[in-house]
Amino acid sequence: MSVDVLLGLQWGDEGKGKVVDFLAPRYDYIARFQGGPNAGHTLEFEGKKHVLHQIPSGIFRESKHNIIGNGVVLDPVIFMNEILSIEKKFNLKLESILSISNKAQLISPVHRLMDRVLEESKGKKKIGSTLKGIGPTYQDKIGRHGLRVGDILSEKFNEKYENQKSYHDYFLKDYYNKKFHSEENEFFDAVKFLSNFKITDTEYLINNNIEKGKNILAEGAQGTLLDIDFGSYPFVTSSNTTTAGACVGLGISPKKIGNVFGIFKAYCTRVGAGPFPTELFDDTGKKIGESGNEFGSTTGRARRCGWLDLPALKYSIMLNGVTNLYMMKADVLSDFNEVKICIGYIYKGKKIDYFPTSVESDDIQPIYKIFSGWTSNVNSSRSFSDLEENFITYIKFIEHSVGVKISLISLGPDREQTILSN
Ligand code: GDP
Ligand code: IMO
Ligand code: MG
Repeated sequence: MSVDVLLGLQWGDEGKGKVVDFLAPRYDYIARFQGGPNAGHTLEFEGKKHVLHQIPSGIFRESKHNIIGNGVVLDPVIFMNEILSIEKKFNLKLESILSISNKAQLISPVHRLMDRVLEESKGKKKIGSTLKGIGPTYQDKIGRHGLRVGDILSEKFNEKYENQKSYHDYFLKDYYNKKFHSEENEFFDAVKFLSNFKITDTEYLINNNIEKGKNILAEGAQGTLLDIDFGSYPFVTSSNTTTAGACVGLGISPKKIGNVFGIFKAYCTRVGAGPFPTELFDDTGKKIGESGNEFGSTTGRARRCGWLDLPALKYSIMLNGVTNLYMMKADVLSDFNEVKICIGYIYKGKKIDYFPTSVESDDIQPIYKIFSGWTSNVNSSRSFSDLEENFITYIKFIEHSVGVKISLISLGPDREQTILSN
């Protein structure tokens, strides 16, 4: 009677969408617990590819129920467009398989505007936000003047909306009347669309189903190194992306957490600004980016690429209590003569083997262990026993160093290109 959690251990885009879709047949409920449409979760199956931003990745599996939890920030316009496009493309009806927390926060047009204004004000020190209004919406939540999804069912919704708007108007007078008001009609249409969905106390829905012995998977967004507390602040997102975030973002007790599946790429990527100790600026980095098709699923921006960072991975495993590791995109590194793993750093002139939490990239040089590469034959492996020796050496080294087993290996974007050990 517990909830399993699946989350990213790096800077996002580890392949969470693919694996949630792969695992969904084992679960009754799939629940998003934080973040919002800054996420881009890619699913590929039967020759089709789809990127989800706001909706959990269990929707393509029959009779799975999907939940958008209270910890999520929801943009009604993106939600509506996403639902309509999926319903059309896949001939599905989603209303009956989706519940939304009445406590999830609403992203309104002013939040997107504020996101742009805040980024502009930072000049060269931009975070590289997806500009979906995430930070300002969480700011309003914590500042206690947020709008919640449940508010749209109230007769006083318009009044609450105007209150929130006038609060921002006070600070942002110069920016209003530019683009903002033209987006309000679209917002109110989308709010109406959203009100047709099941809006409820999802914390009861989840806990009642835990009691009934149903299987629940919590789907993380972003990655541990973007966590508001533990990521490379201020180059982070505005939510807790870690296991603890699943408790708060769904209303479940820490005692109800079961397995924690930690996903990582066989290398590292980061989109947006901020420290990235193993970043490669050479042809190898370019080659990883090209082979891995490393372009943001939400913004289309090129992702920065680098070697696997073991101290960072260990840090993420510690923060999340990872029980199983899932390694993604090892196929991207095939046909490299050599592959490297960072095992420590020279930081401010000293050798260290832990991940320094407030790091300036210039201060830090990775120390690498070099491995012989594997061939593209690895892509046709369908079980752990099929894997070639050099690749096994790479896996074993990681498992041994972090003390957690790698129990899933993904060797391509399709649902089928996945090996699970149990
Ligand atoms: P998420 O945000 O964690 O769900 O990840 P994204 O969908 O943003 O980015 C992962 C990208 O890698 C997507 O384009 C996936 O289709 C793709 N992908 C996932 N797993 C694999 C894999 O094992 N190999 C390759 N080559 N691509 C993968
Ligand atoms: P998924 O779920 C990768 C990054 C942005 C930026 C920082 C803050 O697909 O893994 P925000 O829009 O939250 O204010 O941006 O976080 N970021 C992501 N990077 N994957 C994501 O989500 C991300 N969501 C936000 O690029 O650096
Ligand atoms: Mg993504």
